[in-house]
Amino acid sequence: MAFTYFFRDMEVLECAVRHLVPLVSGRSRVVIWDAGCATGEEPYSLAIVLAERMGEFAFRNLGIIATDMDENGAFQGIIEAGEYTAEAVAAMPETIRSKYFIPVKDGRYYLLDERVRKRVKFLRHDLRSLAPVQDGFCMVVCKNVLLHLSHEERVGVFRMFHGAMEPGGLLVTEQTQNLAAEVESLFERRSGECRVYSKLELPAQRARNT
Ligand SMILES: C[S@@+](CC[C@H](N)C(=O)[O-])C[C@H]1O[C@@H](n2cnc3c(N)ncnc32)[C@H](O)[C@@H]1O
Repeated sequence: MAFTYFFRDMEVLECAVRHLVPLVSGRSRVVIWDAGCATGEEPYSLAIVLAERMGEFAFRNLGIIATDMDENGAFQGIIEAGEYTAEAVAAMPETIRSKYFIPVKDGRYYLLDERVRKRVKFLRHDLRSLAPVQDGFCMVVCKNVLLHLSHEERVGVFRMFHGAMEPGGLLVTEQTQNLAAEVESLFERRSGECRVYSKLELPAQRARNT
C-alpha cells in the first residue's frame, strides 16, 4: 500500500509546479499539503522540482506538510532521516542526484540535502478523520491514495481539501483519479494535460464577497 518512488508521475508534478509558481510569486510563505506521502519520496520530489523552479530565496519560504496514516508508525523516522537506498535514487538523472544527495555508508545509501529536508514536515494523519491538518493551503497534492477509499469517503475527503485550501488554491491528483460528481462544482480543472484543479468558492461565499 505504501508503494512509491522518486519523481513518480513526474509530468503531473511538473504541471502542478507550472501552475503554482505564478500563483505564489512574491509571497513570504508557501504552504503545501501532501496527503498520503508514504515514505517521503513524493514530497521530497516535489520540493526538489520547486527548488529547481522557484529560485533559492523563494524556496526558503516553502513548507510542505506531508501526512500519512502510516499504519506501522515507520514513515516519520524515514522521512526525517532523509536517507534512501542507492536503488531508490538510481533512476533519477545524475545531475539531480549529485546536486541534492550525498552518498553515505559506502554508497549504499544517499542522504538528501538538508536544505530540502528542512522544507518537509511529517504528521501522522488519517484522511478518513475528515479533519484537515490546518487550512489556507495554496496546494494540496493527493496522488495514488484516494483509490483506497470508498466513494462516500472520497467525497468527504474532496470536501475537506476544499475547506483546507485558500481561494484559487490548487488540488493535484493522479491522472486516473476522477472528481466525484458531488464535488465537481467545488473545483475547476486548470489543464487538459494533468489533473490540476483550482478551488472555486461556494455560491454563498461568492455572494458574501460581492
Ligand atoms: C500507493 S501510496 C502513494 C504514495 C504517494 N502519494 C505516491 O503517489 O507515490 C498510498 C499511501 O496512502 C496512504 N493512505 C491510504 N489510506 C489513507 C488514509 N485514509 N489516510 C492517510 N493516508 C492513507 C498509505 O498509507 C500509503 O502510504
